[in-house]
Amino acid sequence: MKAIVYERYGSPDVLKLAEVEPPAPATNEILIKIHAVEATKADCEMRSFRFAVKWFWLPLRLAFGIRKPRNKILGAYFAGEVESVPQTCSRLKVGDKVFGASKLKLGAYGEYLSLPDNYAIEKMPANMSFEEAAASLLGGWNALHFIDKVKLKAGESILINGAGGSIGLFAIQIAKSIGAKVTAVDKASKHDVLKTAGANRIIDYQEQSFADSDERYDVVFDMVASSSYSSCISVLNPKGRYAKGNPRLLDLLRSLVTPRLSGKEVVVAFAGETIQELATLKEMIEAGKIRSIIDSTFSMEQAAAAHRKVETEKRNGAIVISIP
Ligand SMILES: NC(=O)c1ccc[n+]([C@@H]2O[C@H](COP(=O)([O-])OP(=O)(O)OC[C@H]3O[C@@H](n4cnc5c(N)ncnc54)[C@H](OP(=O)(O)O)[C@@H]3O)[C@@H](O)[C@H]2O)c1
Repeated sequence: MKAIVYERYGSPDVLKLAEVEPPAPATNEILIKIHAVEATKADCEMRSFRFAVKWFWLPLRLAFGIRKPRNKILGAYFAGEVESVPQTCSRLKVGDKVFGASKLKLGAYGEYLSLPDNYAIEKMPANMSFEEAAASLLGGWNALHFIDKVKLKAGESILINGAGGSIGLFAIQIAKSIGAKVTAVDKASKHDVLKTAGANRIIDYQEQSFADSDERYDVVFDMVASSSYSSCISVLNPKGRYAKGNPRLLDLLRSLVTPRLSGKEVVVAFAGETIQELATLKEMIEAGKIRSIIDSTFSMEQAAAAHRKVETEKRNGAIVISIP
């Protein structure tokens, strides 16, 4: 089969289109013909082995290969068609259009992927293309998880920091569908897409710090690794909730004391990406509450360009690699 492989950590140019052995599914595995996969910030981080949050480096390097990548095919968020299912699997059948995640197994940058049948794989939303379905996963799943954790309610206010990214654009839509008032923070080039997603108010972080205003929020949802923990806490109402998607070690420690000192709640959990959350995501998409916002779609041959676009942040929406 064709796959985008990388033999060493490095720039986007390490990604090459190659012919590799297709996966041979074990007796408990589902074989999926991949049609589309999102190229994410996390894929770029795994490729270059440069992380915004530095403490990820050592555990991930030990897991993924010290000198070179052990698993040569990246990609975690896919949409495709079921090619074969184990006899024990009753919830999916051959030919079903599905979307899901391969978690740390990765491998979705290729024509076929084989995954255990207990992985979160669900029938695709009926109203989406393969590209849209692949682009809904990282953003929709993670945004749903964190917004659920902070128990956002109708009429509340939420500040979303890093709102123009994959997770942020879904967080805006989910918060709006709940009936919250959304302030979105990102740079000026992303303001049109923030409005498209439904933001009520937009702050350009290159012009102004959100902490410089008197505005207070019931919830802060923060996707920016370098953001100031104390600024995020300071703009919360009493009893406000702070969710951080990429906590540094110090943030993890501070999250233990903040609730005792201030009564404000801090959520630093990693998203579990469960099948129940995936089913909820599908329902919300089919109900028209949220949708994927795609910047551009690349072919397998253009994988390096896709990664460059993700890394340079000159994008308004998801970057998808289409696998015909
Ligand atoms: N906890 C978990 O389970 C979990 C799961 C998935 C992802 N994550 C983490 O969550 C983070 C967000 O993921 P993502 O895929 O949405 O990333 P992304 O697509 O790169 O989005 C990040 C956004 O933040 C913007 N940004 C950068 N600096 C900023 C600043 N100082 N103030 C405001 N906005 C700023 C970026 O835009 P510009 O750079 O163009 O300004 C970009 O639009 C990543 O660090 C990822 O590793 C955590």
